[in-house]
Amino acid sequence: MDLGLKDKVAIVTGGSRGVGRAIALALLREGARVMITARDPARLQAAREALARESGADVQAFAADLEDDAAVRAMVAATIAGFGHFDIVVNAAGSVNPADFAALTEALWPSVFEQKLNGYVRCLRHAIPHLKTRGWGRIINLAGVGAREAGAITIPVGLNNAAVLNLTKSIALLMAPHNVLVNAVVPHIIDTDRQDETMSLLARLTGKPEDAIRKERLDKLPLKRMGRPEEVAAVVTFLASERSSFVTGAAWHVDGGAYHGI
Ligand SMILES: NC(=O)c1ccc[n+]([C@@H]2O[C@H](COP(=O)([O-])OP(=O)(O)OC[C@H]3O[C@@H](n4cnc5c(N)ncnc54)[C@H](OP(=O)(O)O)[C@@H]3O)[C@@H](O)[C@H]2O)c1
Repeated sequence: MDLGLKDKVAIVTGGSRGVGRAIALALLREGARVMITARDPARLQAAREALARESGADVQAFAADLEDDAAVRAMVAATIAGFGHFDIVVNAAGSVNPADFAALTEALWPSVFEQKLNGYVRCLRHAIPHLKTRGWGRIINLAGVGAREAGAITIPVGLNNAAVLNLTKSIALLMAPHNVLVNAVVPHIIDTDRQDETMSLLARLTGKPEDAIRKERLDKLPLKRMGRPEEVAAVVTFLASERSSFVTGAAWHVDGGAYHGI
């Protein structure tokens, strides 16, 4: 199937690692040109070089912390300066830590939303004016199953991801008149660095051994295994493509059957 992605330009936040990196590679392999962004400049540059080698395609990188509004604005401007325009935005940067609710003091609470939601909002705020001028566009926001399943020590995860789903639906309504389709992808237990960190954090918070946490979490999954970043990337790539032309405001689960709701 020709996905019609040749020469489309995509911004992929969190493109230096994990799911974001796999998405960047999948888009590049379909002929898109890609701007990747993340904080650590050395890791970002290494990812850019590796992605260019693996795909033989045009990939650029711009280091930006999504907590810094001016840096996000500069990253979007650098994309337009480098490629002339962009058509696709994939928000995949950041991940949310489980936490003991009692530890989330008044002073710490705002930082909960800096882990993920606020960075997505900043990126959309700066990208949307340009996307509106194009007459064709795609936005894909990575959420997480915590959006729909509450947990006593995953309150920050749940709130960020639930807000991402609400944001996705609202931006889909805002952008429909501009032919910009906006969807969420909802992964669960994907084999990335972050997933390893989450397993150890959950072990610390529950006092259970890490192996037991890992087994417990995987046993709950109908497919009984972690997902691979490429499996998320395949769905994102379809939603970013010309072939996905009547899907907007949707949330596609890539979760091994984890979510049991209808
Ligand atoms: N892995 C899973 O099982 C899973 C499950 C559910 C949902 N998700 C969602 O999928 C997305 C990707 O997850 P992942 O597992 O691939 O995460 P990851 O391995 O931790 O990678 C996160 C990426 O985001 C970048 N990043 C983090 N904070 C940033 C910031 N403030 N500004 C700019 N870049 C930032 C990181 O680079 P730097 O550190 O260099 O900035 C890195 O490139 C996230 O939205 C996550 O919540 C993942």
